[in-house]
Amino acid sequence: MSSLLIHSIKGLALAESEAPLIKRGLEMANLTLIEDAWVLCEDGLITSFGQMADCPDRADVSVDAKGRFLLPTWVDSHTHIVYAASREHEFVDRIKGHTYEEIALKGGGILNSAAKLRVCPESQLFDDAWQRLEEVIQSGTGAIEIKSGYGLSFESEMKMLRVIRQIKEKSPIPVKATFLGAHAIPPEFKHHRAGYVDEIVFKMLPYVAAEGLADYCDVFCDEGFFTVAETARILAAAGQLGLKGKIHANELANSGGVQVGIAHHALSVDHLERIEDAEITALLASQTIPVALPGTSFFLRIPYAPARKMIDAGLPMAIATDFNPGSTPSGNFPFLISLACIHMRMLPEEAIQAATINAAFAIQMSEQLGSITPGKQASFILSKPINSLAMIPYSYGTDLIDQVWIKGVRKK
Ligand code: NIG
Ligand code: FE
Repeated sequence: MSSLLIHSIKGLALAESEAPLIKRGLEMANLTLIEDAWVLCEDGLITSFGQMADCPDRADVSVDAKGRFLLPTWVDSHTHIVYAASREHEFVDRIKGHTYEEIALKGGGILNSAAKLRVCPESQLFDDAWQRLEEVIQSGTGAIEIKSGYGLSFESEMKMLRVIRQIKEKSPIPVKATFLGAHAIPPEFKHHRAGYVDEIVFKMLPYVAAEGLADYCDVFCDEGFFTVAETARILAAAGQLGLKGKIHANELANSGGVQVGIAHHALSVDHLERIEDAEITALLASQTIPVALPGTSFFLRIPYAPARKMIDAGLPMAIATDFNPGSTPSGNFPFLISLACIHMRMLPEEAIQAATINAAFAIQMSEQLGSITPGKQASFILSKPINSLAMIPYSYGTDLIDQVWIKGVRKK
């Protein structure tokens, strides 16, 4: 048995003996903080915590956390980190005034990434994604979801999922895989959309389920992409195969994606930049967690999800990066937390819980991650000396993360 003791912690965040799986509404601002604290871990798991007056006197490894805050690692519940090439030309086109939709219609966007991915060797895809994974761990990410969706054919979608499986097997942090064959209609099916949905329903999904290649099934239900009826067909087929849904909804228009996701018991509905009262009411009556992606709003200069209104209405909220080459080429969580506070008016405590406990719920990992709770993974962030947790979103662009520990092993 190897033990790790972090002691003299100025502020121990989210230390809860029995943490709830999710925090809703007012609970989100209520972040447990213990001053002058310690945490003991054994064999990669948290075993106990307390105040310095009763600190254990020895451990195999002891870390002095004087002046620092300790908090659970971020959980990134929505990413597309397997991709073949960057798309900075589209970024420049948007600066010149073209919209994301216009670029997509001209064969840019997702179709541009799909064309590049189809000819990219599996080993290259793995190496590039691995580098992105290592980079996000350095900014404190302790679990990640990765989607397919740049293949858009049986062969290329399965190639992406195999790369994700390889990452899952080798990654120091837990990885969840999502099949997103319904990310865009590929050019071959431009005049025969139903044919592509058939391909997903009758060919791709059964194979993905039989091979255990994905944990979830996602659909980009939005204007110019998949309709509500197509989304319903795909989610129903996935559900029958035991794959829970995750939806890209209401990014470009009020798409009906939230309602169709809820009707099919989706685990999460993500994006939500164009959400209205009907969606909030539907979410309140569901177990589906809304996930905001403020990095996308920042990068595409589109509205932010109305998180303040949603939390005030009593909803839970998670945030995720959406790390992808088109709409969010960054997996940096601390900056995301700044965006959530500044543009979505979330309190630092709300944004941090949206990035940890609620984010873990969005990939069904809140029993293992998301809080400092005995039995959970010893995956945590140790800040540099700071005055308060609010310094993290306040000091945007400054790296305040001193150390990152994953399952009891120091990674930064
Ligand atoms: O979540 N909105 C759909 N998919 C991605 C963007 C994909 C891309 O542009 O490559 C997103 O923003
Ligand atoms: Fe996305």
